[in-house]
Amino acid sequence: MGTVSKLGLAHQALRAAVLEIANARAACLNELPARRRAAAIEMFEHGLRCGLYMGAFAKAVRDCTGLPIEVNNLVFAAVYHDIGKLCVPAELLLAPRQLTADERTIVQSHVTLGRVLARRALRVMRVPEPALRWALEVAALHHERWDGHGYAHALVGRAIPLAARMMAIVDCYDVIVTPRPYKSACSHSHACGIIEAEAGSAFDPSLVEIFLSIEHELELKSSAWCVPQEECVANVEVRQFR
Ligand SMILES: [Fe+2]
Ligand SMILES: [Fe+2]
Repeated sequence: MGTVSKLGLAHQALRAAVLEIANARAACLNELPARRRAAAIEMFEHGLRCGLYMGAFAKAVRDCTGLPIEVNNLVFAAVYHDIGKLCVPAELLLAPRQLTADERTIVQSHVTLGRVLARRALRVMRVPEPALRWALEVAALHHERWDGHGYAHALVGRAIPLAARMMAIVDCYDVIVTPRPYKSACSHSHACGIIEAEAGSAFDPSLVEIFLSIEHELELKSSAWCVPQEECVANVEVRQFR
């Protein structure tokens, strides 16, 4: 079997796994008020895509560094990295404009809220300890920057846990290649260019190198992820993900 076929099969298997999680959550989302539901859908779809990218990235980091990385745990952490946004006002998350400084501070609180929420939610789901630990680290620290100018703790370099350093890159990639209420989508190559330019400032340069080494696999995943129009943020009805 050719490399592309293998990648396609692996992609399908991982996509099926994360969409199973999505389906399990759809009933819960339907209980929410419309705007809160729309924000939750955007947060969750972003998490699912990040989970797909993280799967490929985690395997590459494990293979390049020899570190004992449990790929599934990192995929799980990526899916839930923005769970704290469920506690942020939906009006701010869906605002089709630049936020004020005060509004940004409120949105940025999703990392501290996320740690608390992830701990509660994942304990209820009986997530095993190693996966829970990585998920909490990622939820709390994915907006730290390599140069120390991130939030909420301004950690510098390797003081930021590996999983959170990886998540920062994956998060940035998905935000760039998908449309948001305040911006349109940009191309895969544009996203890779920005990530490369931020190596050593926003991101761990050695991780950027590994990320860019699998960029074709990531492009395949991002182009294969097709969210049907009727499931986009503009439509507040939650349907079963396919
Ligand atoms: Fe975030
Ligand atoms: Fe995110």
